[in-house]
Amino acid sequence: MIKVVVQGASGRVGQEVVNALCHEPEMELVGAVELKVSGDHLPLPDGSGSVPLSSDLDFILAKCRPDVVVDFTTKKAAMAAVPLATKQGVNLVIGTTGLTADDLSQIDHLAIANKVGAVVAPNFALGAVLMIHLAKAAAKYFDYAEIIELHHHRKADAPSGTALTTAREMAKARGKPFSRPSEEKGELTSRGEQIEGIAIHSVRLPGLMAHQKVILGKAGQTLSICHDTISRECYMPGVMLAIKEVVKRQGLVYGLDTLLGL
Ligand SMILES: NC(=O)c1ccc[n+]([C@@H]2O[C@H](COP(=O)([O-])OP(=O)(O)OC[C@H]3O[C@@H](n4cnc5c(N)ncnc54)[C@H](OP(=O)(O)O)[C@@H]3O)[C@@H](O)[C@H]2O)c1
Repeated sequence: MIKVVVQGASGRVGQEVVNALCHEPEMELVGAVELKVSGDHLPLPDGSGSVPLSSDLDFILAKCRPDVVVDFTTKKAAMAAVPLATKQGVNLVIGTTGLTADDLSQIDHLAIANKVGAVVAPNFALGAVLMIHLAKAAAKYFDYAEIIELHHHRKADAPSGTALTTAREMAKARGKPFSRPSEEKGELTSRGEQIEGIAIHSVRLPGLMAHQKVILGKAGQTLSICHDTISRECYMPGVMLAIKEVVKRQGLVYGLDTLLGL
């Protein structure tokens, strides 16, 4: 049984992780951490009981002795958790986005020094990772590509990190940037964010979750690769896989694609 603590347990993704853990036979939620807590126990969503809850990760680690901490919070909270967890021999699965290359090398260093594993993945949705994989495979055969990414209106960043990664990975697979269609002459034209010759168009609307369409074009044909999410459940197979894998590893594994061997 893999014992898990969730940091950010009341957040939008954290709640899904708590729920998913309740249905995993090989895993047990043993504790929860939140920024603002109104009690010392978190009731489990399946009604099977409750687990210790605190805003103090160090306290929860000492009390619950988990194998893994799963974090979906903020960059600041995630990075604060890394030395605390690794020093206590606890593995980490981090889904929080916005970590820098320096943050990743610090995580790797602390994980190796303390002989634990750390999986950091900016996108745990299996379909999104496969979309990038397929777009990379197609990239060699097309000279033109554009990306349309659509997200809920509360998303802070644009273009999305997934769209930026897709464009950069596609160009890397080709070995050169994509060709850009001849530019419009007018001053009022808008062709989105240009990354490696790929125009990325960002849509932000209520009613959307996370969607992306990669369109590759050449004379007489286009190829479209689409991924749509309709709920945050989409991240759970990836997060559960990361929990199972991280306990077998030492050091940093970056990206669900690496974990899947893509
Ligand atoms: N990797 C992926 O596949 C993936 C998918 C979706 C989202 N994300 C990322 O995951 C993160 C969380 O997203 P979300 O939509 O779940 O956000 P959210 O709903 O705002 O949840 C974050 C939770 O973390 C809590 N928190 C903040 N600071 C904390 C601290 N120091 N200690 C403990 N808990 C703390 C927040 O508490 P308060 O509400 O009290 O501030 C909140 O409950 C973001 O970085 C997002 O970009 C990643």
